Amino acid sequence: MKVTVKVPATSANLGPGFDCLGLALPIYNTLTIEETVLPGTGVEINLMSEGDNIDEMIFDNVPKDENSIVYKAVEMLYNSIGQEPSELRINIQSQIPITRGLGSSASVVVGGLIAANKLLGSPADTTALLSIATEVEGHPDNVAPAILGGFVMSSREDDGSIITEKLNWPEEWDITVCIPDFELSTNIARSVLPESVPLQDAVFNAKHLAMLIQAINTKDVKLMKNALHDRLHQPYREKLIPGMKEIMEAFIHEDNVIGTVLSGAGPSILVISHKYDLDKIKSTVRSIWESLSIKSDIRTLKIENNGAEIIEG
Ligand code: HSE
Repeated sequence: MKVTVKVPATSANLGPGFDCLGLALPIYNTLTIEETVLPGTGVEINLMSEGDNIDEMIFDNVPKDENSIVYKAVEMLYNSIGQEPSELRINIQSQIPITRGLGSSASVVVGGLIAANKLLGSPADTTALLSIATEVEGHPDNVAPAILGGFVMSSREDDGSIITEKLNWPEEWDITVCIPDFELSTNIARSVLPESVPLQDAVFNAKHLAMLIQAINTKDVKLMKNALHDRLHQPYREKLIPGMKEIMEAFIHEDNVIGTVLSGAGPSILVISHKYDLDKIKSTVRSIWESLSIKSDIRTLKIENNGAEIIEG
């Protein structure tokens, strides 16, 4: 039997929503899990890029054995029902750029879990899959929109349970995804964050996250522009991302540019706008990075309201 799952890219954090907000984007990884007929063949993982993906070289460094996160996720699911994974071939067709803050690892974790669950006769429900995916990823903000689609608030509670709520992203707000041609691993981007933060910074993010939720619910551009500020992760990560400060500052005085935020742990950057010249956003960001000899891929995308789906099997 063979199961194929298509999973969207995701962008986590959205400024003040560190580790708890994320949205799905229409760039996809497609993952197939096939039961192989030969006994003793173990688990084989193949990774292929689609189109003119700039990540060919990076693919060579991605583990394709038991150290792979997709293997870990699939193994946890099998173990949860007292089985061990074996005789599986996992093929990943990748469109989502790797190590760019666009949820490529969350997408393969989610794709692997949904495909393996189907192969096993669907013993786990969405909540259980979300819980395993969060454990593998360490935080739920990418895996939740990868599974559910749309704009999602997620929290892993102290008892391990995961709470998710879908929020309505205003369709008229444009999301321009700016992807530089350098990589930044989430591990490195998290290693620069402090263990604890000043109380006023925690309060700053609480206030701005509250504003963000109200701005989304009321489609209030002005409130959203005020909300999209963060003191928990972006200031610490700025030093890892050449051009980030300049890009963040480039649109501050443009009323119709709602905000500029780091996508996940970076290095990609989202520019959120409303009725603003999208070519101007692209040329501004491109030229800032070009002045630093950084190539970029910049696309304005609609939010993907559908989460991962089984397309075969
Ligand atoms: N919330 C996570 C972070 C997303 O910012 O580190 C990266 O996977």
